[in-house]
Amino acid sequence: MWRWDSFLHASASDAVTLGEGNTPLLPAPSLGLGDVWIKDESRNPTWSFKDRLGSGALTMAKHFGAKVIASSSSGNAGAAAAAYAAKAGIPCVVFTFVGSAGPLVLQMRAYGAMVVKVADKADRWRLQSLGVREFGWYPTSPFFGPVVGSNPYGMEAYKTIAYEIAEAFDWQPPDWCVLPVCYGDALYGMWKGFEELKALGWIERTPRFVAAEVSGSLPVALASGDPMPPEMTRNAPSIATSIGAAQATVQSLDVLRRSKGVAVTVDDDEMRRWVVTLAAKEGIWPEASSAAPFAAIERLRLEGTIKPHERCVALMTAAGLKDPGPIEAALPEPPLVTGGLPELLAALKNAYGFAHG
Ligand SMILES: Cc1ncc(COP(=O)(O)O)c(C=O)c1O
Repeated sequence: MWRWDSFLHASASDAVTLGEGNTPLLPAPSLGLGDVWIKDESRNPTWSFKDRLGSGALTMAKHFGAKVIASSSSGNAGAAAAAYAAKAGIPCVVFTFVGSAGPLVLQMRAYGAMVVKVADKADRWRLQSLGVREFGWYPTSPFFGPVVGSNPYGMEAYKTIAYEIAEAFDWQPPDWCVLPVCYGDALYGMWKGFEELKALGWIERTPRFVAAEVSGSLPVALASGDPMPPEMTRNAPSIATSIGAAQATVQSLDVLRRSKGVAVTVDDDEMRRWVVTLAAKEGIWPEASSAAPFAAIERLRLEGTIKPHERCVALMTAAGLKDPGPIEAALPEPPLVTGGLPELLAALKNAYGFAHG
């Protein structure tokens, strides 16, 4: 990522890096979604796009002489903060809540972060904010609302996703970039990256953006014309916990308006279906949230918003192993086979519908 350092806030020689970025951009012809490419951010060091944010933020934390890193996250941002803090040799406190568990929290602990749980999710920000204000802890995540985004140096680093896509397509950007959106940090960063390339004359036009959300705050704001996405309420948590926030940021709405973009609300069934399809057809297993762009593209192609000849890039933000639980139920249970070939073939047929020969 730091080969783009002249566009960033520090030089490559000062970067806190684990080799993030330069991720593959892969065609996905078997999805039936037309000209779609996957920017596979699960190849980053902690298996998510948040490593760009982690590297950007920790580089500056080190530059400023931060004594402690603070992050409120039960997910990928916390894992990235923990890993890059470890690399920088700076202690890291990650605030999660009581219900958080699983591979992501384990990942933070493995990187040596001091993970603490709070009973009420809102308490995470209260405590982090006290640490920041009273002790000068360096924040990499949001810690007050309404959220204005994560660490600004981290968000800047997302510009490199745009540079890599533009370069891979020989400076002919795709028509659409489609992202799973929580606060819209990556949406903002990528948009800014393309705008910079256009200002420099490296590209002639910029893509339109699609925000795939679970809360639906952006579609509501686009439809109403309001300046701020509203806070939404849900009856049950989404399976895409990584993008489960109730409200997107003002800058994500701004990016959609400026890029003539679109927002789509996706549901659990669609994401589950696309996780299974991507893994089985393209060999790429996404976290549930990372399947959201494919549900959005499917819908926008069907309704004609994305035209048949138009090229889309979907940002595949994180790997499926990070949160495998919700997807397991959608897959067939492996059968127990005893006996020989006839029993094996019968089991393959029963469990998987496979007809040999
Ligand atoms: C896997 C994954 N995808 C997408 C997002 C959305 O992030 P953003 O705040 O950049 O919209 C997150 C946020 O945590 C995430 O973990």
